[in-house]
Amino acid sequence: YNRAGEISVYSLTCTHLGCTVELDGEAFACPCHGSRFDPEGRVLAGPAQDPLRRLRVEILEDNTLMVYADGD
Ligand code: FES
Repeated sequence: YNRAGEISVYSLTCTHLGCTVELDGEAFACPCHGSRFDPEGRVLAGPAQDPLRRLRVEILEDNTLMVYADGD
């Protein structure tokens, strides 16, 4: 959730070569080559150049959170 109460969901696939990033404090860190991303998916440190991919989400009537892997 951000301060406006909106939910954002990001792919954990590193945009460098596709390893899975891991939570490290308030950032996401890639164990393969050391890229780091902030909580909004922006690159803090390379070699990754692109932000983590934001996924499309929807809250259904029964409060189920649907996450779509087909992009934003
Ligand atoms: Fe993540 Fe290379 S795959 S830094």
